Amino acid sequence: MSLCLRFLLSAPFLLSAVNAWTSTPFNPPSIPLAVRTPYVSAWLPQGSGTALNGAWPQFWDGATLGWAGFVNVDGVSYNFLGTPDVPGATFSLATQQSFEFTSTQSIFVLSAGPIDITVNFLSPVEATDLVKQSTPFAYMAISAESTDGNAHTVQIYSDISAEWVSGDDSLTVNWTTTTGDIFTHQVQLEDQTLFGEVDDHTQYGSAFYSSPNTVSATYQTGQDIVVRAQFIEHGVLANTEDTNFRAVSDDWPVFAISHDLGSVTTATEPVIYTVGHIRDPAFRIRTQDRSLYFWSEYSSPAELVSYHVCYTPIPFTNLNPQISAFIGDYSAALTRADALDAQIESDANLINSEYAGLVAISLRQALGASEITISKDSTGGWNTSDILMFLKEISSDGNVNTVDVIMPAWPAFLYTNPVFGKYLLEGLFRYQATGLYPNKWSVHDLGASYPLALGHNDGLDEAMPVEECGNMLIMSLSYAQKTGDFSQITQYTALLDQWTQYLINDSLIPNDQISTDDFAGALANQTNLAIKGIVGIKAMSVIWGILGNTAQESNYSSIAASYVPQFEGFATSTTGPHLTLDYGDENSWGLSYNLFGDKLLGLNLFPQSVYDEQTAWYPTVDAAFGVPLDTRQPYSLICTHSTLDWQIWTSTLMTNNATRDMFINAVYKFASNGTSNAPFGDWYDTVAGLDEGFRARPVVGGHRT
Ligand SMILES: *[C@@H]1O[C@H](CO)[C@@H](O)[C@H](O)[C@H]1NC(C)=O
Ligand SMILES: *[C@@H]1O[C@H](CO)[C@@H](O)[C@H](O)[C@H]1NC(C)=O
Ligand SMILES: *[C@@H]1O[C@H](CO)[C@@H](O)[C@H](O)[C@H]1NC(C)=O
Ligand SMILES: *[C@@H]1O[C@H](CO)[C@@H](O)[C@H](O)[C@H]1NC(C)=O
Ligand SMILES: *[C@@H]1O[C@H](CO)[C@@H](O)[C@H](O)[C@H]1NC(C)=O
Ligand SMILES: *[C@@H]1O[C@H](CO)[C@@H](O)[C@H](O)[C@H]1NC(C)=O
Ligand SMILES: *[C@@H]1O[C@H](CO)[C@@H](O)[C@H](O)[C@H]1NC(C)=O
Repeated sequence: MSLCLRFLLSAPFLLSAVNAWTSTPFNPPSIPLAVRTPYVSAWLPQGSGTALNGAWPQFWDGATLGWAGFVNVDGVSYNFLGTPDVPGATFSLATQQSFEFTSTQSIFVLSAGPIDITVNFLSPVEATDLVKQSTPFAYMAISAESTDGNAHTVQIYSDISAEWVSGDDSLTVNWTTTTGDIFTHQVQLEDQTLFGEVDDHTQYGSAFYSSPNTVSATYQTGQDIVVRAQFIEHGVLANTEDTNFRAVSDDWPVFAISHDLGSVTTATEPVIYTVGHIRDPAFRIRTQDRSLYFWSEYSSPAELVSYHVCYTPIPFTNLNPQISAFIGDYSAALTRADALDAQIESDANLINSEYAGLVAISLRQALGASEITISKDSTGGWNTSDILMFLKEISSDGNVNTVDVIMPAWPAFLYTNPVFGKYLLEGLFRYQATGLYPNKWSVHDLGASYPLALGHNDGLDEAMPVEECGNMLIMSLSYAQKTGDFSQITQYTALLDQWTQYLINDSLIPNDQISTDDFAGALANQTNLAIKGIVGIKAMSVIWGILGNTAQESNYSSIAASYVPQFEGFATSTTGPHLTLDYGDENSWGLSYNLFGDKLLGLNLFPQSVYDEQTAWYPTVDAAFGVPLDTRQPYSLICTHSTLDWQIWTSTLMTNNATRDMFINAVYKFASNGTSNAPFGDWYDTVAGLDEGFRARPVVGGHRT
């Protein structure tokens, strides 16, 4: 129905007319500024377009994160970051000229009178270096250049507020500033709550704002309007500390560093700021406390342990080496980031440029929901062969390592470094291998509330039996196939086989149960769940084959093969050549995205005719912003909702490029329409193009297929 619209919008997407600046490749709902972990997650909300100085940066949930910037040019002050109000001080707004994003960088150019500044927010994705990937810091790099050929004096200023350390602005914080080669402000709650969260912000550990003590650096801490006015009026800070520790919102203490670039003509070397948040121990899995991987490079557990007794923050002296290393690594990190960005862009452009844009806006969000950890070994050192990765079900409920959230994000991990997949699954396997989880099917998640992975010994996790059994089998085989590392399928064969038994019982005729699309409610005989279960059985056949058990291999293979024609009999609509949503519900249909497993694993279990029929069907039910998820719509009388990860998965199953591109274009239209200002929401209305409230979830990793 939307062919004409699609045709119009598939013309090159030009900058939105309302914005005075160019947005390349498009204007996304929200721009990642510093997105490394569930707690280091700063974004610039966009809607139809918001300049870097048009809104405060926000935590992923929309709460303000104070992060301000000014540049003084020949004594005239311009605000370039955040929207600070500084009563009595005179300054202008720098004018945004352009915005560009890649997979790891968000780059703004703003004019401040005769000077242009380039502000590059780099959130590294260091897929092959676990120390770097687990270091929870991001960069802001600023360079200045004269645009009129003349030299101008330039000073740069930036601060953060204590909103980076709590979800409750009424709590008291304290802070220290360390000088030396690097200026670092360390800020933390005075009363720390180990493993605590308030409104998804962590409630322990410390935030760090740092910049090298080069290019005439000065620092200051104190009330926001006082510190900012000092810079605006004098172009230099007072090198003083406010030690009147108080609540986050009590005369808003800020932590500032400025640089005097002197006389500027050609583009300067960038001034580097780094922002991040560190807590330790970072996780508890059942009875074991774990630390972020990067500590193994810098400190022994003994050096940290004294801070764990009654929880106290780790002082900067223990963090100096990693902050120095992170700052010192900037130019190498930028080179690596540029190479990764170029590789991703070139790979994604093999599909098309809209797809490349979607992938680029998704990568930081997909990886920024997870953290890599190690334990201590029996001798008191770090055990770097004991690696577990934890992923937060951001926005929906905060569960730890939700199996059906890892699954949609799986393509991003498989692409960047498949071993992340192993580290994400390992905790789930270990827990269930203890036998403490009472159900025969796979657990839904490792713990109800990040960062506590306490398991579900009562078996009362959100049950998604066929969904999670299928997901565990598909991901385990996918990892083994991609890497040739069979250790996990060898060690946990019994669990994998147990889940297969469950699927043999319950996937051809699935019981009344929910799928990952839990908002749609429970339903018996879900066609798409049956597909996942049958693919799971076949996956176990392949696993048995890898492990050399040919009897089990051929038994499970013939069970899966015998289910397929039966399934087709139950699931094919008699009123049109397409799969139904559930058996016997002739007019129903849905996105049969679980066929993705059949393709990912190279099983070719379902016949080509199923793919051809689905490919022919979807264009007939395409709405303005894509194909709805399915015909169950308690939320509305018409079919309007869809999720974008499942549309991208479905796009990979289409047997012609036009229908594949129809799905990609639909998601692109939603992402670039300017109706949302939330970090890329994956649940939206396909008629109006409005997001439905999910934000910043890692499932956008599904865009990497
Ligand atoms: C800040 O509070 C923490 C926790 O109460 C305490 O350990 C630390 O010494 C305090 N720091 C300063 C600078 O007062
Ligand atoms: C479909 O797209 C793929 C990848 O983008 C391309 O290699 C292939 O040639 C296209 N097929 C047709 C028939 O255009
Ligand atoms: C390190 O962890 C692995 C995996 O849990 C374990 O098998 C090994 O015994 C540990 N090593 C030491 C020295 O504690
Ligand atoms: C399979 O179903 C049978 C019969 O209902 C039941 O006895 C058995 O426990 C089930 N097995 C699993 C693994 O669910
Ligand atoms: C599920 O489908 C099977 C096969 O068509 C049918 O026998 C059974 O009654 C259905 N169950 C429900 C609850 O609709
Ligand atoms: C094949 O597997 C099923 C399910 O575990 C089992 O009931 C059956 O006995 C097996 N058949 C053979 C020949 O091993
Ligand atoms: C948003 O979508 C509507 C409806 O398709 C369209 O008219 C409008 O031009 C789109 N806006 C942008 C900025 O793409």
